[in-house]
Amino acid sequence: MLFSVAWLVGLAAAQSSQSIVSGSTVRVTTGADATPTLSLSDFEASTFNTGSMSLLSASTGAPNATASRTSSSVDPLTVIVGGSRTPSASGNMTASTTAAQPTNTQPCNNYPEFCTRKYSNITEVCAHNSPFVRKNNAGSNQAYGVTQQLNDGIRMLQGQIHEVNGTLYYCHTSCDLLNAGTVESYLAEVVSWVENHPFDVITIIFGNADYERKDANGNPLVTSKNFVSPITDSGLLQYIYQPPKTAMTLEDWPTLGELIVRGKRVITFIDYNFDTDAVPYLLWEFYNIWETPYSPTDIQFPCTIGRPEGLNQNKSQSMMYMANHNLNVEVSIAGSSLLIPNNVALNVTNGLNGTGSLGLMTNTCISDWGRPPNFLLVDYYNAGPFNGSVFEVAARANNVTYDRKCCGTASFAVELLRPSTTYLALIVGVAAALLL
Ligand SMILES: *[C@@H]1O[C@H](CO)[C@@H](O)[C@H](O)[C@H]1NC(C)=O
Ligand SMILES: *[C@@H]1O[C@H](CO)[C@@H](O)[C@H](O)[C@H]1NC(C)=O
Ligand SMILES: *[C@@H]1O[C@H](CO)[C@@H](O)[C@H](O)[C@H]1NC(C)=O
Ligand SMILES: *[C@@H]1O[C@H](CO)[C@@H](O)[C@H](O)[C@H]1NC(C)=O
Ligand SMILES: *[C@@H]1O[C@H](CO)[C@@H](O)[C@H](O)[C@H]1NC(C)=O
Ligand SMILES: *[C@@H]1O[C@H](CO)[C@@H](O)[C@H](O)[C@H]1NC(C)=O
Ligand SMILES: *[C@@H]1O[C@H](CO)[C@@H](O)[C@H](O)[C@H]1NC(C)=O
Ligand SMILES: *[C@@H]1O[C@H](CO)[C@@H](O)[C@H](O)[C@H]1NC(C)=O
Ligand SMILES: *[C@@H]1O[C@H](CO)[C@@H](O)[C@H](O)[C@H]1NC(C)=O
Repeated sequence: MLFSVAWLVGLAAAQSSQSIVSGSTVRVTTGADATPTLSLSDFEASTFNTGSMSLLSASTGAPNATASRTSSSVDPLTVIVGGSRTPSASGNMTASTTAAQPTNTQPCNNYPEFCTRKYSNITEVCAHNSPFVRKNNAGSNQAYGVTQQLNDGIRMLQGQIHEVNGTLYYCHTSCDLLNAGTVESYLAEVVSWVENHPFDVITIIFGNADYERKDANGNPLVTSKNFVSPITDSGLLQYIYQPPKTAMTLEDWPTLGELIVRGKRVITFIDYNFDTDAVPYLLWEFYNIWETPYSPTDIQFPCTIGRPEGLNQNKSQSMMYMANHNLNVEVSIAGSSLLIPNNVALNVTNGLNGTGSLGLMTNTCISDWGRPPNFLLVDYYNAGPFNGSVFEVAARANNVTYDRKCCGTASFAVELLRPSTTYLALIVGVAAALLL
């Protein structure tokens, strides 16, 4: 049952011809039981590159009405298309909710099919140690920087973090070996991509490499709290989705369309020393995702639970999971033993088939767990038996067709920035799924 207090989301027509949709309105009806579950800020945060989205009160038609939130839950969100009329003085759009619904052609994370799929029901490629892109450095894991990674289709960014002099850096093993700069500067680059790609949802996993270090009082030196400053100062915070639970089941996750409509398009996880009381939006990875054995050197890539250790089999069924598919060799550099990517094997490792391939591991996972991994973690995502092979593996797992160019070629940003006349259709897609 839908509650009668509704919000109208007016997609403000921009001055230029760049507006996404002009003169169209969408009615957002909040969840059941007299609980307005959206606040104005949910929408004000989502400023689109081609204009801004604003809220109008359904009852008064006035902008900036506020909803009182009586529950901490932010779900469910229902979006009903109001057609291409502007709201009446009263703001009611009820009459048009039965209008014929066009097919969505606006891709979410590159595929229109994904708009109505839950975040937890999509396989994405993860750039392992995304910031480590130094040429001719054995500690590198990727060939292209994060902007190119995202342009090419990477939707999860993982990286190892160390604390130096009170600041967090992305460093491989040690900041003396490979220091890729501050977490804040990396996130700032991510934010500018996110800003310009309003139909994309990305995930960031912070690997807290300093989780065992202690401060003078014997408390952990690096916890979720240390991430607040880079997350805030980089501008990322406004995009982060904070789920209603610290441990989300597969069922609990919203669809990509819902995340996009809310403008909360970044999901953040930390592997160790989480503190959800202090930093609720920085989720503990292992409440939500389990991983196959990490830093693998075994080309069999078994699809078994590596972390968290001792995870109950039942629990694992309701969580997302990640296939660690970066093959390593062990080397000794500057006195440290270091696992580095086995670059020689990449055309097999990142391939579709054969022993050691990403395709075979994904199929093994599907047959062992009844569903594909949510995340395929790889080194040098651009390499493989053919360009884009890792994205082909993901597309097969998702039952969609991969037809993009890859990798490291001209930016796709331009294409995505063009105003989309199908934005309304995207909302319809979300509505259609939710109204079923
Ligand atoms: C709506 O709120 C924003 C910031 O909260 C403010 O800048 C804007 O002027 C308000 N608009 C109206 C019409 O009150
Ligand atoms: C607007 O919707 C409310 C709630 O459904 C209804 O009570 C009211 O009469 C409607 N107003 C107009 C002008 O249709
Ligand atoms: C996942 O998505 C596929 C393709 O749309 C769909 O067939 C399947 O039912 C979904 N599974 C869940 C658990 O939502
Ligand atoms: C940390 O501080 C020390 C001493 O001031 C300095 O030598 C070093 O360069 C600093 N490290 C970084 C990464 O800024
Ligand atoms: C797993 O789930 C089954 C059926 O729901 C239940 O019988 C069993 O006790 C559970 N096992 C554990 C270890 O929780
Ligand atoms: C992968 O690369 C190695 C070394 O360059 C080569 O020997 C091997 O034939 C290649 N395999 C495939 C499947 O292309
Ligand atoms: C294995 O993958 C290659 C592409 O890398 C493809 O050409 C070949 O047909 C595949 N072989 C089988 C048996 O599927
Ligand atoms: C793969 O992409 C690179 C550029 O990143 C290009 O030089 C190379 O020719 C491409 N290979 C194939 C097989 O298309
Ligand atoms: C895969 O997609 C095709 C249409 O593109 C559909 O017919 C088929 O049922 C889908 N399979 C699954 C398992 O969702």
